[in-house]
Amino acid sequence: MPGSPDAGRAAHWDDRYRSVGPTAASWFEEQPTTSLDLLAALDVRPLNSVIDVGGGASTLVDHLLAVGHTELAVLDVSAVALAAARHRIDDDPAVTWIQADVLTWNPPRRWDVWHDRAVLHFLVDDTDRQTYVTQLRRSLTPGGAFVIGAFAEDGPTECSALPVRRYSIDDLDDLLGDVDVLHRRRHLHRTPGGANQPFNWIAGRLRCA
Ligand SMILES: C[S@@+](CC[C@H](N)C(=O)[O-])C[C@H]1O[C@@H](n2cnc3c(N)ncnc32)[C@H](O)[C@@H]1O
Repeated sequence: MPGSPDAGRAAHWDDRYRSVGPTAASWFEEQPTTSLDLLAALDVRPLNSVIDVGGGASTLVDHLLAVGHTELAVLDVSAVALAAARHRIDDDPAVTWIQADVLTWNPPRRWDVWHDRAVLHFLVDDTDRQTYVTQLRRSLTPGGAFVIGAFAEDGPTECSALPVRRYSIDDLDDLLGDVDVLHRRRHLHRTPGGANQPFNWIAGRLRCA
């Protein structure tokens, strides 16, 4: 709806992708190495369904398609970002594109894996962070896996003209509550402009009831 917070966020991110371009954006990475390492560490296989939340124009789907994944989804508030990725992979039918705000989206199904690189840190309000956790839990199958990367405690204080909330490994450990965090990583992302951005990552699984 025009004028809603979702519409404002969508317009903001569409503008970022249009003005900077997907591959020059500070978050761009040709090889999503940490994501792929952590997915492998969790034993995620091509038969597992994966949703990349705030995936934008990330190349993660390209890499997952290359190893045989057939059930992928990319959710992002920016239609411009999704269109760029969709075009790049020639509209591969293995990928579902979801233009939505993660905070207000109504998940139509469950996935085996939730992946998020660099969306969580834009949620600076506690209520939004709680909503994020609720959305993750209602989007995952029982025992489902998660891989989450956010700016580290010594990372940038803002990004794309927006404030961010930074996360120590302990903060990320506490985020989801009653889950099994199985892997923790720090990674220094080198932006296309040559700056270093420290990220912290967690990967794990929901507990089966
Ligand atoms: C820093 S970029 C990271 C993109 C991608 N994950 C990557 O690693 O290349 C943040 C992405 O989150 C999206 N985004 C920001 N807030 C969002 C929200 N509330 N719901 C869904 N997507 C959002 C933006 O459009 C953008 O594509």
